[in-house]
Amino acid sequence: DSVSKVDIAGVGALAGQRVRIGCWMTRRRSSGKIQFLQLRDGTGFIQGVLVKEEVDGETWEKAGQLTQESSLYVTGTVREEPRSPSGYELAVDGIDIIQIATDYPITPKEHGVDFLMDHRHLWLRAPRQRAILRIRAEIISAVQRFFDERGFTLVDPPVLTPSAAEGTTNLFHTKYFDEDAYLTQSGQLYMEAAAMALGKVYSFGPTFRAEKSKTRRHLIEFWMIEPEMAFVDHEENLRVQEEFVSYVVGQVLEHCRPELAVLERDVSKLEQVKAPFPRISYDEAIDMLKEDGMELPWGEDFGAPHETLIAEKFDRPVFITRYPTEIKAFYMKPDPDRPEVVLCADMIAPEGYGEIIGGSQRIDDPELLEARFDEHQLPREAYEWYLDLRKYGTVPHSGFGLGLERTVAWICGLDHVRETIPFPRMLYRLYP
Ligand code: 4AD
Ligand code: MG
Repeated sequence: DSVSKVDIAGVGALAGQRVRIGCWMTRRRSSGKIQFLQLRDGTGFIQGVLVKEEVDGETWEKAGQLTQESSLYVTGTVREEPRSPSGYELAVDGIDIIQIATDYPITPKEHGVDFLMDHRHLWLRAPRQRAILRIRAEIISAVQRFFDERGFTLVDPPVLTPSAAEGTTNLFHTKYFDEDAYLTQSGQLYMEAAAMALGKVYSFGPTFRAEKSKTRRHLIEFWMIEPEMAFVDHEENLRVQEEFVSYVVGQVLEHCRPELAVLERDVSKLEQVKAPFPRISYDEAIDMLKEDGMELPWGEDFGAPHETLIAEKFDRPVFITRYPTEIKAFYMKPDPDRPEVVLCADMIAPEGYGEIIGGSQRIDDPELLEARFDEHQLPREAYEWYLDLRKYGTVPHSGFGLGLERTVAWICGLDHVRETIPFPRMLYRLYP
């Protein structure tokens, strides 16, 4: 017979109709007279119901064979069911088994993290993991809408590079035929070139850092969004960032309510995320830490505990601005009134999620930039092209980088970045 194949996500519009769905069976319950099948097709979940007296013997029998993760086509009539989370269930009248799965390793019982990470390719099927990946996709699409609607052009920087953007300590080395090459740590320097050509640009791509740190915030391979803007100074850079992050959180709240519910996310915390965000200077942050008994000498960088302590004082992300010049990247512009600090800001997420954005105004003066190359002992030859940007029509410009996985962890309320990316690359983990 000719029933149409539909997605579970679409059954809401089909009450009373007979449909066919390609799906996996995740759980089966039987009372002897009724069988309940928990079915998923990736787009959603629906409960299939079979009443022994109402279906043919063969269909009843097939339902009884289904094990967790068995694949099938099911036919039945969609009906409203107020007690179901989706509001619908499926009165099953036919089953075509594709495969009976045996011994699916991930059972409803608790598993350790290492076991789950070894089975990441299957763990992705869990409702919680599905919710996270849906939110990740919404964040990516909101990012692109935000910049596309504001006249930014998407530009793709290279992944293989001859030199470092963010210091040489955690560079990922590889061979490029006979030359040495590195996987990109940040597309920023190339985005600066692009901003001089297109004005306002942004990139979205993978970046790599051979970080030896095993923390809940660090990945070896992570994705970054890097906008770069010509004729934009430090203050305007911060305004773009707070608008941007407020927009992204707002879009997730608007489009991902069911997924946030699966994750049991406290959405009231996200609803507070509205521009403007508070700004405190590095100096003020040092004072705040001191008041709370976490003394740090001026000139030291903040670690996770410091960031968390400061973030706890605010109900939305906070900018920490003007860090000491000596602990920040070579390209950051010193404050003209106070050259020992730079015109930079880190955006610290609330609830202990740490730094999600690093950004700054860039040095536009050619002599100063050259002096920085010497101080940082960077090989001039490798950066000749970058110095050219200051030789041929230099302009004030600024930009920033948002780490996607830390943003996903924060918005989803996850305690570790390993769940924010389909196949995480971490210290000691390259499989699967
Ligand atoms: O602060 P970072 O190092 O800044 C840059 O790379 C600049 N070049 C960006 C720019 O101005 N265009 O990194 C930016 C963000 C961090 O705030 C953090 O969210 C994320 O990237 N990040 C990481 N995320 C996961 N794992 C890691 N190992 C990360 N390192 C940085
Ligand atoms: Mg940083």
